[in-house]
Amino acid sequence: MNREQAQKRIAGLRREIERHNFLYYTLDAPEISDAEYDRLYRELAKLERQFPDLVTPDSPTQKVGGPIARELAAVRHEFPMYSLDNAFSFDELREFDARVHRFLKLDAAEPLAYHIEPKLDGLAVSLKYEDGLFALGATRGDGLEGEDVTENLRTVKPLPLRLTRAVSLTVRGEVFFTEQDFARVNDQRTEAGEPLFANARNAAAGSLRQLDTSVTASRPLRVYLYTLEEPERHGVETQARAMEKLRELHLPTAPLSALCRGIAEVLAYLESDFAAAREELAFSTDGAVVKLNEFALWEKLGFTAKSPRFAIAYKYAAEEAVTTLNGVTFQLSRTGTLTPVAQLAPVEIGGVTVKRATLHNLDEIERLGVAIGDKVRVIRAGEVIPKVEGVAERGEKRRDILAELPTHCESCGTELARRDDPPNLACPNRECPEVVAQQVAFFAARGAMRIEGLGEKIARRLVQGGLLKDIADIYSLREHEQQLVALEGFAEISVQNLFAEIEGSKRRPFARVLFALGIPQVGAQTARMLTEHFADIDEMLAATPEQFAEIYGIGEIVAREIHDFLHDERSRARIKRLRKAGLQFASGAEEHAQGFFSGMKVCVTGRIEPFTRDEWKEIIEASDGFFVSSVSKSTDLLLAGEEAGSKLAKAQKLGVDVMDADRLRKALQVEELPVAGELAERWREFITE
Ligand code: IVH
Repeated sequence: MNREQAQKRIAGLRREIERHNFLYYTLDAPEISDAEYDRLYRELAKLERQFPDLVTPDSPTQKVGGPIARELAAVRHEFPMYSLDNAFSFDELREFDARVHRFLKLDAAEPLAYHIEPKLDGLAVSLKYEDGLFALGATRGDGLEGEDVTENLRTVKPLPLRLTRAVSLTVRGEVFFTEQDFARVNDQRTEAGEPLFANARNAAAGSLRQLDTSVTASRPLRVYLYTLEEPERHGVETQARAMEKLRELHLPTAPLSALCRGIAEVLAYLESDFAAAREELAFSTDGAVVKLNEFALWEKLGFTAKSPRFAIAYKYAAEEAVTTLNGVTFQLSRTGTLTPVAQLAPVEIGGVTVKRATLHNLDEIERLGVAIGDKVRVIRAGEVIPKVEGVAERGEKRRDILAELPTHCESCGTELARRDDPPNLACPNRECPEVVAQQVAFFAARGAMRIEGLGEKIARRLVQGGLLKDIADIYSLREHEQQLVALEGFAEISVQNLFAEIEGSKRRPFARVLFALGIPQVGAQTARMLTEHFADIDEMLAATPEQFAEIYGIGEIVAREIHDFLHDERSRARIKRLRKAGLQFASGAEEHAQGFFSGMKVCVTGRIEPFTRDEWKEIIEASDGFFVSSVSKSTDLLLAGEEAGSKLAKAQKLGVDVMDADRLRKALQVEELPVAGELAERWREFITE
């Protein structure tokens, strides 16, 4: 290819990639698979390597980052960044509406148009584009002056470095993590023995304000924009139109917004549609922002010292309770770190009885200033692990937690060591039975190798019984059948079931195997990216850190972790044994069997045309799910069709996720189910109906 041809192809590839970014991150409707996306990206990267002078700073390949500065420079905001007043009840929202009417001297009965948006829980940023190119990004700071995070923001995947048109504008929005990504980031930090982020907002702030932007690049940050500054310059008169305009430019905006006429409609929307949809959002919101739609009214209303008069944040009450801290235990993880866990007097928070809460690490204990015997505030947000938030009232007899730290591992008796960053206790014994048991349980977990019947408890017993010393021993358990049966409480039948499960796990695709190995920083998604990129484990074992970093979405730090793990003697020995046992270490046809129902226990009730119950069973199992015939606490999903019976009521009572045909269709748009033949044909018809 000559230079001219390359130039053309590069421009085309960039446009393609930018479009797919927008489809993926903003519309949540990708048109191509991750693998296809990867191919486009690699082709672009390769061409740019061949013609380095054609690399421009706005290329999607320029999102990898590197060291930038000793400290972040200060940036004065052109327009101050205000915060929002809060309303905690519908009464307060009605008051807000009344206030607006009074201020505007409007008849109280005149309905005003409001634009409702989710309140994003992250870090506010201000972005400047010049002639369509991303030019400057700053944090909110104190509202008048923030920090220059331009280079960090450059690495944020959903943020376009170039708009669809060469306009100059300032936009504002929020950088955040989705709940799932936040959990993954903290999982990785546990793996790496790094301090856990206390919440998603801290994680976003910590990830963005990095002096080495390759760290930012390694974190799956998201961004949604919600303010267009100086809208009049762009001929835009309402907030609803401004959001449309941003989307036209391919700037990401939050899903789930609505335009309501009058405060009564606002309240009805918040109570029903928004409340229901909020649960489904990938990111967490602690409420909604209610904004007047007309910018002309914004002008008239203006700002108080701190916040605009034309908007208000409606916040759902945080779920919190006060209870006594009875003690602290230390939970050994599969990396050997001991996490402090608060043992609480049982208390109900948001309908769930909470007895334990995380204290994260030793620093957190010091920061909170908690002691045993104190009354503590405990919060629980959605599915997140409950955590101790602070001291509500000091106890009369207080026992200092840090002064009474354990000195030896409860499991193996080894003297405990300290890990810095965060300060935590750790068991340094690589053969510690509890550490091995945790590794085995992780390996066998649903999202990993899915060996039912090899949970934490059983894993612990097998390790203590001397039957497992390493993950790889799982596949030679058969040789110890007599010993197993002799273990107390192990009936012949459960032993046979366990063997069958272990045998079945050998069919799990390469990506699962890789994830199950517990490579630091490698979650299920990263594992999948790796197996899409490398044909088999041999290619991976031969790869350099640079080759791992070539994969879109894998930064230098993660690349180095993967490389080091694969070059560790123990890992090598383990991989060799697992391979000999017959596990999948190559991406084959099996790879695609990872479907929508993967790892889930799914129950079906009522009629869901056009499939019979048996066909549903086939579909669920083909995509690596479990078909179960009754609903219990451990059921992950109930597919409910017409004439659904008592199972539906039971699922609702137990809080099991329920999908009807419509929701299923919507959710499945992005998934291919691996069913063959006629069933596949009908399946395609079903989801495109
Ligand atoms: S508009 C003029 N819209 O909430 C005020 N803010 O508590 C501009 N936030 O600093 C804010 N979601 O960081 C706006 N849809 C949304 C928002 C939002 C989250 C944040 C923002 C702001 C804070 C105020």
